[in-house]
Amino acid sequence: MLAAESVCAVLTTEHSVIRQTLHTLDDLLQCGLWRQPGPALKRVRTLMEFIEAFDRSCHRPKEYDHLLPALSGRNGTLDRLMSALDQAHTRGDDRLDQAFMLLAELERGDESRAEDFALALRRHHATVLQRLQTEEASLLPIARDLLGREEWSGIASAMAAVPYPPGALYEIDRRYPAPHRKHAAC
Ligand SMILES: [Fe+2]
Repeated sequence: MLAAESVCAVLTTEHSVIRQTLHTLDDLLQCGLWRQPGPALKRVRTLMEFIEAFDRSCHRPKEYDHLLPALSGRNGTLDRLMSALDQAHTRGDDRLDQAFMLLAELERGDESRAEDFALALRRHHATVLQRLQTEEASLLPIARDLLGREEWSGIASAMAAVPYPPGALYEIDRRYPAPHRKHAAC
């Protein structure tokens, strides 16, 4: 089914974007220059804000608004899997929020929070990477088995309406609140 292949290709490609951004952040953290205010710390914020906006406003709506509703209520195992993924989203958001709050303290010059910040970011990365792996290894294969041609076509058409220009300045989707923003230093 072409529509199924297209949908899965879009989602896994977006996962690759998220993974690559996390890897870039990891590389940046290795250099150590981010511990004090300056260009490296600004780059860290830019990458974190990109991940937040890309996930919440470009990637997540495709899954949560279009794919998951089509799978909901099919069987108990699948519903439990989707519930676990939902919890992973919440956990990842909480960890990113914590990292943003610590980032704001670094931006104010409090270098003593550097280790806590790096730990919060590593915990966020681990949560996100595990979720992406689960979606690719479990959710998408189940969806391929359960959904029919018409359903995949409907999902593909709906997903096409979600903005996707690479490098675009994404608007934060307000359905997924980001409480750290009121603590941000910029
Ligand atoms: Fe995903």
